[in-house]
Amino acid sequence: MVGPAPLDACDLATVPSHIAAIMDGNGRWATARGLARTQGHEAGEHSLFEAVEGCLAAGVSWLTVYAFSTENWRRPQDEVKFLLNFNRSLLRRRRDELNERGVRIVFVGRRNWRVPRGVLNEMNQAEELTKDNRELTLTIAFNYGGRAELVDAVQSLVDDGVPASKITEAAIGKRLYAPDMPDPELMIRTSGEARTSNFLMWQMAYTEMLFLDVLWPDLTREHIWGSIAEFQSRTRRFGGV
Ligand code: IPE
Ligand code: IPE
Ligand code: MG
Repeated sequence: MVGPAPLDACDLATVPSHIAAIMDGNGRWATARGLARTQGHEAGEHSLFEAVEGCLAAGVSWLTVYAFSTENWRRPQDEVKFLLNFNRSLLRRRRDELNERGVRIVFVGRRNWRVPRGVLNEMNQAEELTKDNRELTLTIAFNYGGRAELVDAVQSLVDDGVPASKITEAAIGKRLYAPDMPDPELMIRTSGEARTSNFLMWQMAYTEMLFLDVLWPDLTREHIWGSIAEFQSRTRRFGGV
C-alpha cells in the first residue's frame, strides 16, 4: 500500500523527471459527505496544488494531470458544464500564482472539437503567460483521449503525405500534442480504480503505475513523496533482463 511519506523518504538524486496523475474520486469524496459531486471537483483544486508543490519540492520537472477526458462528455450536462466553467475559472484565478512558482502550463487534448471559445482563450492565455518558466511543466490533459491523440497524429501524417515507409515510432511521437514531453516514468491514479481510462496510452508503454486508495480531494504532497519512494523501490527492465 502506497501512503504518505516525508520528502526525505525520497532519494532526491533519482526522482522521476515526469509524473502523470489521474485525478479521480472527486464525486465519491463529495457523495460520502452528502455534498453535490461538483463540490468534490472544487475540493480537488487544493490537491492539484499539493501535487504541484510536492513535485517542486522533490525536483520533478514534469507533472501531467488528467482534468477532462474525451469520454467525460458522457456525464450529465450539468456536470459537464460545471467542469468547463470550473477549469476556466481555476486558470483565471490561479495562473499568476503558478507563474510566480515558475510553472509552465501546457495543454494536451483536442482543441478543435467541443471546447468552448471562452475556455480555449483562458488556456491560450495561461500558456502564453507561463511559456518561459522552467521549474516545472504542468501539462493539463483537457478534452484529452489517448486514442484521439493517436488518430490526430495519424491524420496529420497522412495530411502531410508522409509515405508508409517513413512512419516510425519517432515520426508518430513528433505528431503527438506535446512532442517535447518525455514519457512519464511514474503514473499515479487516486480512488482505487486500477485502469488508465484512455490516458497517455502511447507515452505510458513502460510507465510504472501506482493506484492509491485515497480519493483525489484527500491527496497531499506527502502522497506524491510516498509514491516517489515506492517508485524508487521498483526495478524497471524495459523488456531486458
Ligand atoms: C475525477 O473525479 C474528476 C473528473 C473525471 C473530471 P470523478 O468525477 O471521476 O469522481 P468519481 O470517480 O465519480 O468519484
Ligand atoms: C478519468 O476518470 C478521467 C479524469 C480523471 C479526467 P474517470 O472517472 O472519467 O474514469 P472512469 O470512467 O472511471 O474510467
Ligand atoms: Mg471517476
